[in-house]
Amino acid sequence: VGAVVVVDGAQLVPHNPVDVADLDIDFLTISGHKMLGPTASGGLYGKLELLERMDPFLGGGEMIMEVHLDHSTFKGPPWKFEAGTMNIAQEIGLAAAIDYLQEIGMDAVREHEKELAGYAIERLTEAGATVFGPRDLELRGGAVSFWYRDIHPHDLAQVLDQDGVCVRPGHHCAQILMRRLGVPATTRASFYVYNTTEEVDALVAALEKARRVFGA
Ligand SMILES: Cc1ncc(COP(=O)(O)O)c(C=O)c1O
Repeated sequence: VGAVVVVDGAQLVPHNPVDVADLDIDFLTISGHKMLGPTASGGLYGKLELLERMDPFLGGGEMIMEVHLDHSTFKGPPWKFEAGTMNIAQEIGLAAAIDYLQEIGMDAVREHEKELAGYAIERLTEAGATVFGPRDLELRGGAVSFWYRDIHPHDLAQVLDQDGVCVRPGHHCAQILMRRLGVPATTRASFYVYNTTEEVDALVAALEKARRVFGA
């Protein structure tokens, strides 16, 4: 229908090989702090012909070509959209993070997460947890959300934290899905390049301890 498509890649790009040309994506956003980069770093990819047609959304240094009393002209992309002093330190940090991830290889990042997610699903299910989402590792990412023995995820997370196991409890900005699943919240273990199967074992051991604490 000729629509311009903007892909929110905040959760996609850190975990998968992504080829904007192959996928024919018009715009793609990335969030640096979700891919080993500093906070307040990120990026917007856009097709050049679309960026050229767009007006600047901010005025400031480095985006101006000529200024007149009655009109101004602007540089081309990306400068047109980078008014003023940028987050220079953060973006240099993000570039280092991207180099690091590319050195590992995004295929290897994806494989590592599949291995950890597969192992976690197996161990959590054995431990009596209900794991949400598809079992097929091709159809899911490396974040594993679960419900454990009717212990509220916030209580569970607090007890796991005492054993140095950091999980995220809550509705994960997905309240409609929580209602569909029939739970107020879930506990989520999110894996990345630095996690290991031993850490999955530590999670399962801490769950057993929580079960005893709550008499569940
Ligand atoms: C899919 C998705 N988009 C956007 C964001 C927001 O990114 P940022 O924290 O860089 O504002 C998040 C953060 O949780 C996210 O998960």
